[in-house]
Amino acid sequence: MSDRDPTLKPGDPDTTGHVWDEDLCEFNNPLPRWWLWIFYATIVWGIGYTIAYPAWPLITRATPGVLGFSTRAEVAAEIERVAAKNAAIEARLVETPLTEVAADPDLHGFAVNKGAAVFRTYCAQCHGAGAAGVQAAGYPSLLDDDWLWGGDIESIHLTITHGIRNTTDPDARWSEMPAFGEILSGEEIAQVVAYVQQISGQEHDAALAAAGETVFLDNCAACHGEDGKGMREIGAPNLTDAIWLYGGDEAALTHTVTYARFGVMPAWGDRLTEAQIRAVAVYVHGLGGGEAPPEE
Ligand code: HEC
Ligand code: HEC
Repeated sequence: MSDRDPTLKPGDPDTTGHVWDEDLCEFNNPLPRWWLWIFYATIVWGIGYTIAYPAWPLITRATPGVLGFSTRAEVAAEIERVAAKNAAIEARLVETPLTEVAADPDLHGFAVNKGAAVFRTYCAQCHGAGAAGVQAAGYPSLLDDDWLWGGDIESIHLTITHGIRNTTDPDARWSEMPAFGEILSGEEIAQVVAYVQQISGQEHDAALAAAGETVFLDNCAACHGEDGKGMREIGAPNLTDAIWLYGGDEAALTHTVTYARFGVMPAWGDRLTEAQIRAVAVYVHGLGGGEAPPEE
């Protein structure tokens, strides 16, 4: 058998010389030129790329590439660019009295956006992503106008800067409700709990509550007020509004009165920049419960 098929006519394509079943041959059709050139070009481009850019993995990092390109450096440069762009308005936020920020739309918008980002990062784990707080866990909602320590912008700023009942900041807001389990009898506690249920508009045992009023005036009014509406200077909550830090049913109230609670919030003054603290104070103040500054 010759390697040229005798049945082929001139002008027919070449064959590879492979023959099956006596007379079946395989045409030798070369790849089109254009295809081959593109193929070679991709190889050249690939080699060039691995020389120019980070490519081959080594033990701790990849080959850097002669152009020195790095996504990390790009991010750092981008962060620096944004910081430089915001430097002026951040300085303005730190210098402007807090009560005047709202009057400056650019500054206010900047503070609210920045404050929302700070809140998501540092506050949401306790106060909730939507700032609605965590029911019965002692993390207050920041959406309503029920403030423990004050809802004007300066008070909010102070609360955030120094925190509440933490031991790291000597200027933290501080107050302690005594554990009445050591002070009152079980009966007196049941009475005062019924009274708190009464003033918060819940179902209650009327006879217990009547006796509880005296217990309340003797033991609780000094902090929670004679009307039970609380006292912001010492963070004593309003007990009449049915908004509870730790729960308002009989069991929760009995626990609170017997053992007391000790809600702690970290101080942020040494962790965040003044611009961040002011921004998040503006953000919280704008959530719905923000109050006007107190009259002088
Ligand atoms: C570790 C949990 C925790 C984190 C994180 C936290 N807080 Fe608080 N925060 C609390 C607790 C608990 C209270 C209530 C303390 C009390 O009983 O007085 C509180 C109270 C507050 C109050 C006072 C509310 C009022 O009614 O007067 C403000 C304002 C506040 N937080 C803002 C913030 C901001 C802004 C951040 C983020 C920068 C933040 N908190 C992060 C736990 C936290
Ligand atoms: C020395 C001041 C003080 C006295 C006295 C005091 N309280 Fe309190 N009370 C507080 C403070 C401050 C809190 C908030 C504690 C916290 O958030 O950790 C509080 C919280 C509470 C709460 C929880 C409210 C909620 O939203 O969950 C109840 C209920 C309560 N007090 C009832 C009483 C009763 C009843 C008495 C009297 C038997 C009493 N308190 C006496 C300061 C006081």
